[in-house]
Amino acid sequence: MQIKRRDFLKSAAGLAALSLLGKSGAAQSSRAGAARIEIMLEEKIGTVSPHLYGHFVEHLGGVVYDGIWVGEKSKVRNYNGMRADLVDALKRIKAPNARYPGGCFADSYNWRDGVGERSRRPTRTNFWNNDPAMKQKPNSPGRYEPNTFGTNEFVKFTELIGAKPYLAANLRGLGANDFYEWVEYCNAPAGMASNSRLRATGELGSKEPFGVEYWGVGNEAWGCGGDFKPEEYAAEFRRFTSSVPAYGLPMKFIASGANGDDYNWTRGFFSASAEKGLWVFDRMWGWAVHHYSWNASGGRTWDWVKGKSDAVNFDNEQYYNLLQEANKMDNLLREHWRIMGEYDRAHKTKFVVDEWGSWHSAGTEIGDNYLLSQQLTIRDALVSGLTLDTFIRHADKVSMGNAAQLVNCLHSLFLAYEDKFTVTPNYHVFEMHLPHMNAAAVRSEFFAEPIAYSRNSQPSTLVGLAGAASVSGKTLTLTVSNPHITEAHEAEINLRGAKVASGTARVLSGDIHAHNTFENPTAVRPRDEKFEVKTPLRFRFAPASVTRLQFNLI
Ligand code: AHR
Repeated sequence: MQIKRRDFLKSAAGLAALSLLGKSGAAQSSRAGAARIEIMLEEKIGTVSPHLYGHFVEHLGGVVYDGIWVGEKSKVRNYNGMRADLVDALKRIKAPNARYPGGCFADSYNWRDGVGERSRRPTRTNFWNNDPAMKQKPNSPGRYEPNTFGTNEFVKFTELIGAKPYLAANLRGLGANDFYEWVEYCNAPAGMASNSRLRATGELGSKEPFGVEYWGVGNEAWGCGGDFKPEEYAAEFRRFTSSVPAYGLPMKFIASGANGDDYNWTRGFFSASAEKGLWVFDRMWGWAVHHYSWNASGGRTWDWVKGKSDAVNFDNEQYYNLLQEANKMDNLLREHWRIMGEYDRAHKTKFVVDEWGSWHSAGTEIGDNYLLSQQLTIRDALVSGLTLDTFIRHADKVSMGNAAQLVNCLHSLFLAYEDKFTVTPNYHVFEMHLPHMNAAAVRSEFFAEPIAYSRNSQPSTLVGLAGAASVSGKTLTLTVSNPHITEAHEAEINLRGAKVASGTARVLSGDIHAHNTFENPTAVRPRDEKFEVKTPLRFRFAPASVTRLQFNLI
């Protein structure tokens, strides 16, 4: 069942009041069975790259226009035309990078349309104009692209938030030389090439180079990015990355990786690349795997529309089913990695999971014309917690992650409409993860009774507790998700290799449907709790929660 925007705005306050109760309203109970979390402080996995916490900005629905860009003359507080509340919030979570301009849009985009004086930029048909949902959205900003926001505006946005720009090239529609010239536009020294002179023109023109290091070579080349076969795309990747002008920068090329568990795509690409020569992996910094958690049907269907659930009005089974989808990330990384290593023995190429998150049914759009806009609840916060912890547990394999997408679209951290703005539960998970950035991921094991539930009338289980740990100096950070809807789970925490002097706890939990609205932007927010240091260490993880524990080590 779909819910209208007005209705879910109204329902938020009630849901918030239920936040410490089970769905039935009964007080939460604790799970039977002793859970144990073991943390091996001496067993380092790798450094947690801040880039795991990256973002994604596509010219799609309300992401760019209204989400980020309101214009310099807007009544909405802005910096150089960018929504100030959004910029300020992204600075608070130390946004490390943002990917742009797509997504599928990237492979229909000519960067030249978005540079120079704004009044002279052309209007083009947006890639998303073809989407069936656009029939209901005649006035959507996503139908025709005015190019008001282009490369200069995006780079300015990344500068304002303190992030690195990650640009995705058009491989389907433009040639390799157009890509080289975009690189030239962004990175050639001031005044030295026609394109660097062009860079200095227009409203946010810049004489100085932008220094863009991260370059996606197409997007979803198996689908909207050209419908290639893996070996065909492998040839395109080599062609596009041959002799790209570097201007002294350590260029990082990211190849379009697999859709979820499409292991044939990974094998096809890697085997074709290795056949040409192992040097290909020297210039391939990232393998961009995409994984959306969309199917809440428990396998009843894999129909792209019917398999989804409502963003707010989902039932308990749909909740657990969706979290099972999110939790597939662990196995996806292991399997793709195993295949990549058969060809790239030295594992020079690491993962860039540059699209991940929840994708729900239409019906909770923040703006009527925002394509793929949806509400985000505690369920989505759990998707974030499970996914980010998986990245940390694979810190040796994952170099970058990008939640799809930043604002007003799919798994957003923010919702914005005209002068209204709120963070979503996802934002809080990113904020809670801050201490992991640049810390050393250490091995952790979670022993907890799995959650038993009925999936499509068959008995099924979901992980009881999941999480990740990292160490920075004398601080250990442990993040843990408890997916159980009504039951808290107490766990003993064993630290191997250190003792604890003191600890703190920060908890994001609530009714699984709870969400923030413009009227009630704090309905879902984390709370700080006392952590009492005793032997053994114990903590009671709230139902449907993401928790961060921090320990000062002796
Ligand atoms: O994030 C929405 C779309 O999902 C992206 O444009 C595309 O890459 C993916 O299929």
